[in-house]
Amino acid sequence: MTPEPLKVYLDSYGCQMNLYDGEIVSSLLQADGFVITSRAAEAQVILINTCGVRDHAEQRVLGRLRTLAALKRRHSRLIIGVLGCMAERLRESLQDQIPEVDLVLGPDAYRQLPHLLKGLISGDEGIRGYSTGALRETYGDVQPSRREGINAFVAIMRGCDNFCSYCIVPYVRGRERSRPPEEIYREINEAVAAGFPEVMLLGQNVNSYRHEEVGFPELLDGVAQITGLKRLRFLTSHPKDLSDALIERMAQGGVICPSLHLPAQSGSDRILTAMKRGYTSEKYLTKVEQLRSAVPDLALTTDLLCGFPAETEEDFRQTLELIEAAQFDDAFTFKYSVRPGTEAAKLPDDVPEAVKVERMERMIASCRQQANASRKRMIGQQAEVLLEKVSPKNSSEWSGRTACGRMALVPGEFNRGDFVRIRVKQVKGFSMWGRKVNYE
Ligand code: 5AD
Ligand code: SF4
Repeated sequence: MTPEPLKVYLDSYGCQMNLYDGEIVSSLLQADGFVITSRAAEAQVILINTCGVRDHAEQRVLGRLRTLAALKRRHSRLIIGVLGCMAERLRESLQDQIPEVDLVLGPDAYRQLPHLLKGLISGDEGIRGYSTGALRETYGDVQPSRREGINAFVAIMRGCDNFCSYCIVPYVRGRERSRPPEEIYREINEAVAAGFPEVMLLGQNVNSYRHEEVGFPELLDGVAQITGLKRLRFLTSHPKDLSDALIERMAQGGVICPSLHLPAQSGSDRILTAMKRGYTSEKYLTKVEQLRSAVPDLALTTDLLCGFPAETEEDFRQTLELIEAAQFDDAFTFKYSVRPGTEAAKLPDDVPEAVKVERMERMIASCRQQANASRKRMIGQQAEVLLEKVSPKNSSEWSGRTACGRMALVPGEFNRGDFVRIRVKQVKGFSMWGRKVNYE
């Protein structure tokens, strides 16, 4: 009699890259006979794939792990594994805090996971602990086990060489390495064949993608030729590496969507220098101008970070000015959080929490108002929406995104993956409502 396959529950936190890694882990486990379950209660193994970019994210994971540890004290055979960036940052010390954790694996160690789990299950206690992996790992041959949806993530590179002074990523994800184009084209072809109309290329800094003669603009040329691919997006672009050649490719349009995520972080040159970002606010805004004249319908999104060490009210005011000048379509706003081991951690974290909170609220208010205004300008206009799911708030509506990445709701009965042309009728906050119109 063959033994019952072992059931694994996996939960991923953090950025798109980390969600993609979760799909790599699922695939590696399934290839070795494990079954991935969406019900934690029936799992023999619980894996938490973590983010380490801010303390808040780590505290949430620690809370979750404490609950799992209590469960394990009652069901001693449960195996608990911690993966991802926080695992790589804390290594063995994670088990000092929560001894019930069996395995701690950083982002380059996942190939060892099936073997480690089997060892633990067969009672080899020596396996417990932290494992690290090959520093050049790209999981190039692993076809991720994708979650359902219309958007397939495809990592084109891993790691980061920028060392922004506040950021933990280079320490936990290692040096930058790019995957060969053929491997990326193969993975996208497989995703398109499996029914994904949209692909999101992922890298910590996609603009510095390079494999031999192929840079990022050339890679986009290759991807754009893939038959059946309808929409192409990419994440994240670093302002200092955004090239004229890339702007030219975006201006050509086609499958390349008119949306760009370009983290500004701050509008103060003094703070940008201390962050080691490699641009001034003027340079950032010049790029934005260049982009807008090349891609008039561009939706620009960003990351903003307030409360960096020694940030004054005047520095922050310059961030608000940058927001005003750049006209973002959406923004992810953060309060600075000390990451031990980074360069900024040597500076005093001297902006009081209450001031950070207040600055963040002001950034959010300013961005929200702009986002709403950009959508209101769409009223009366047409847009093509790729539908994703029945709206969770109203089952007679479908929700999807325009090519710009804006959320749109459309009444009627549709299928996932349908493209519908709508005329925008109404806007509330970040959402637009429209009625289907026929293609001319
Ligand atoms: N504290 C707060 N936010 C951070 N980010 C990166 N490091 C930190 C930190 N130490 C934000 C940046 C980055 C996004 C992914 O997370 O804005 O672009
Ligand atoms: Fe993603 Fe950075 Fe968080 Fe790691 S630390 S999951 S790379 S955002």
